[in-house]
Amino acid sequence: MKLKKSLFTLLFMSVIFILSGCGQEEMVTNVGKLKFEQPLNIPPLLEPEIQSDGTKHFTLTMQKGQTEFFPGKMTDTWGINGSYLGPVIRVSRGDKVAFDVENNIGEVSTLHWHGMKLPAVMDGGPHQMIEAGETWKPHWTIDQPAATTWYHPHLHGKTAQHVYRGLAGMFIIDDEDSKKLPSNYGVDDIPLIVQDKLFKSDGQLSEKDDTTFGLLGDEIIVNGTHDPYLEVTSNKVRFRLLNGSNARAYHFGFTDGRSFQLVGNDAGLLNEPVTMDRVMLSPGERAEIVVEFKPGEETILHSFNGGVGIENGEFDLLKIKAADQLAESAPIPDKLSSVPPIEAPEHANVRTFKMTMENTINEKKMDMYRIDEVVPAGTTEIWEISNIGWSHNFHVHNAAFRVLDVNGQEPPEYERGRKDTVFIANGAKVRIAIEFGNYPDPKNPLMYHCHILLHEDAGMMGQFMLVEPGTESQIPAELPRKEGESQHGGH
Ligand code: C2O
Ligand code: CU
Ligand code: CU
Repeated sequence: MKLKKSLFTLLFMSVIFILSGCGQEEMVTNVGKLKFEQPLNIPPLLEPEIQSDGTKHFTLTMQKGQTEFFPGKMTDTWGINGSYLGPVIRVSRGDKVAFDVENNIGEVSTLHWHGMKLPAVMDGGPHQMIEAGETWKPHWTIDQPAATTWYHPHLHGKTAQHVYRGLAGMFIIDDEDSKKLPSNYGVDDIPLIVQDKLFKSDGQLSEKDDTTFGLLGDEIIVNGTHDPYLEVTSNKVRFRLLNGSNARAYHFGFTDGRSFQLVGNDAGLLNEPVTMDRVMLSPGERAEIVVEFKPGEETILHSFNGGVGIENGEFDLLKIKAADQLAESAPIPDKLSSVPPIEAPEHANVRTFKMTMENTINEKKMDMYRIDEVVPAGTTEIWEISNIGWSHNFHVHNAAFRVLDVNGQEPPEYERGRKDTVFIANGAKVRIAIEFGNYPDPKNPLMYHCHILLHEDAGMMGQFMLVEPGTESQIPAELPRKEGESQHGGH
């Protein structure tokens, strides 16, 4: 019996070895190297200034700084209103928001609201460039269900570098449904922005990005804290997991095997909580989980090895210690979101996208002047995304979707809610029912792309125009070029 089992394991391992194509790929790990000595940084909540019409006005300043990831060593980093990462923005559905985004990093960038439904000119994608020293002033009304979204630069060709250096932050939207879950920020509602880093021996960040996927780090920081621990003081805690890494995917779970309740993913709460013990997030994806604690216990949030490439690695992420006395939290409601699941109409328009090893989508690389798709605003379509080489994921701006199937099968449980980014494994075909925002604009395109930042920068991105239904045929395939701009455009 035992022999049979080990023969089977051997066979299984060699198949994996051959499939991976590179037996040399050693597992990356930080297990055993951490002491969990640094208190987890909780990014501050940004206070808005309330304008006379009720608009919540926020100021974000992209800047250079230095961060002490390792005691006694200063690392050059970038941050927003601070030296690394940015503050958490928290608003409610229905709020009017306005931002002053000041660019003090000394070079052009952008700031994109990932997961937000909003007009294309406010999106902060590659076209909404903020020159060095300038201030960009987007504004919109929050009109979508509660969700954990985020913001980060999106300058074409530079996204990986700008995010890696530290420009990113969480953006939380509340509504009546989400307030029934633990919501006391920093107490029982905790953001966890997980990123991998490569450090040089002098403590500076290495930007070595020579893998197929770009930079894959061997150290993990959470909310900008290396070697972190967190003390929790209530018996149920909501964690908002955000994979803010350039390329690495995480298979989240706990070292003691405990289960947790998944209550939300990228674009909103689930209709009902689901109990599970693993959630996989590829870059850009989010999950909200509620974890229960007993007084005095400890556990480690961990990422389990998922194989090769971006899934290679076994990492301890955060030690969580429960206080000796825990406040009793309200029970998790059986019904969470009151928003029905996204359904495509019977004769929904279907579009197909093919992702390849050459970082193309439908055989094309990103062109800032080419419009790849024209989509009627406010509709729900079916998009079929297949991947014929390496690992990729797929993110769409100004949209929310539900994964219908993965290779014809039901998606994994953690992928069943409202999403805006989905992992597409090598060889996989994923079908989504995708609901678009309702801000038609015939002049300013929106993006869909792989959120592995090197791939995105390399051109694995396309542009779509969201237009008034019935006007699709009036949209030219090319954007007008400004005087003096080259045929190739972009950067
Ligand atoms: Cu988070 Cu188009 O990106
Ligand atoms: Cu986005
Ligand atoms: Cu990719």
